[in-house]
Amino acid sequence: MTRSSAPHLALLLPVLAFLTFSHARIPSRGSQTAFEVRNAFNDSAFRLPYAEARLSTFPDYSVQSLEAQQFPVLGAVDIQTRLLRFVMQPGSRLATQLHPRGNEVINVVRGAAKISFTFESDPSLATVLRRVTNVVRAREVALIPQGLVHDVECVSKVHPCILLSVANSADPGFVVL
Ligand SMILES: *[C@@H]1O[C@H](CO)[C@@H](O)[C@H](O)[C@H]1NC(C)=O
Repeated sequence: MTRSSAPHLALLLPVLAFLTFSHARIPSRGSQTAFEVRNAFNDSAFRLPYAEARLSTFPDYSVQSLEAQQFPVLGAVDIQTRLLRFVMQPGSRLATQLHPRGNEVINVVRGAAKISFTFESDPSLATVLRRVTNVVRAREVALIPQGLVHDVECVSKVHPCILLSVANSADPGFVVL
């Protein structure tokens, strides 16, 4: 044992170094299983602080983004999520938009938001459209199917709207019309 342990260790070290390095490639998908991607993250990777989220400020609304570029766990094979937190002034609206690669669930935390989306009413007649519109209030959730053009407007009279958006893709895409 004593005679052979030194050369074995010398052979093993580069292998261990490679395994450690390859495990650090987060969140590389390619040949990694969902388990391997998930298991490479430490516990705190699964707790996401909005305080550290990227903030974009516009004249009448702001949005904090929790995205895979900053929080790679969001790109894990079995997570695939993108989160946004909007604070919208009364009467403000987002640009008409769609997300080609993900559906969107919007939790209304505060205020009331008019949320609409449009799709073909008759698949054989592309010009016949159906518009779904709801005023969604605090403790209600709006569902926006993948790829559909939608509008979000804060219709509260006094208080800002607070909306939490969850997309079922780390890269849902964002197309403004
Ligand atoms: C978890 O991993 C992140 C990123 O690699 C690191 O910044 C953080 O300090 C780690 N946290 C703990 C508790 O090990």
